[in-house]
Amino acid sequence: MAEFVKVAEIDEVPEGAGIMAQYGQTSVALFRVAGSFYAIDNTCPHAGGPLADGFLNGAEVTCPWHMWSFDVRSGACTFDPGLRVASYQVKVEGADILLAPAEAHGGERSGGQCSSDPRCASRSSTS
Ligand code: FES
Repeated sequence: MAEFVKVAEIDEVPEGAGIMAQYGQTSVALFRVAGSFYAIDNTCPHAGGPLADGFLNGAEVTCPWHMWSFDVRSGACTFDPGLRVASYQVKVEGADILLAPAEAHGGERSGGQCSSDPRCASRSSTS
């Protein structure tokens, strides 16, 4: 059974926004959407952009560097669901937000070039 670790307090995460938190050695992006909390890796698989600083629209965060977007509930890229960042189980205990690793997703890719979606191809440059 996964062990949950405190990473933040609920008052640190504004509604409709994200913050960067530390889970062990990993930077995670922690979001509050409609009162619920979600956590994914902070590092964008494209070129390492900080997803916690991205633009949040509902449950979709858009990387501030080159506009790739991810569903904060699953970590799935919104235009290539086969590409995803790691997501975490989130638990609230009192004022504390705790994380544990999510269940593994079968067949996922953790980074690199998206498939044939033209939006991804147009964003593949790091310039
Ligand atoms: S680093 Fe995130 S889209 Fe490029």
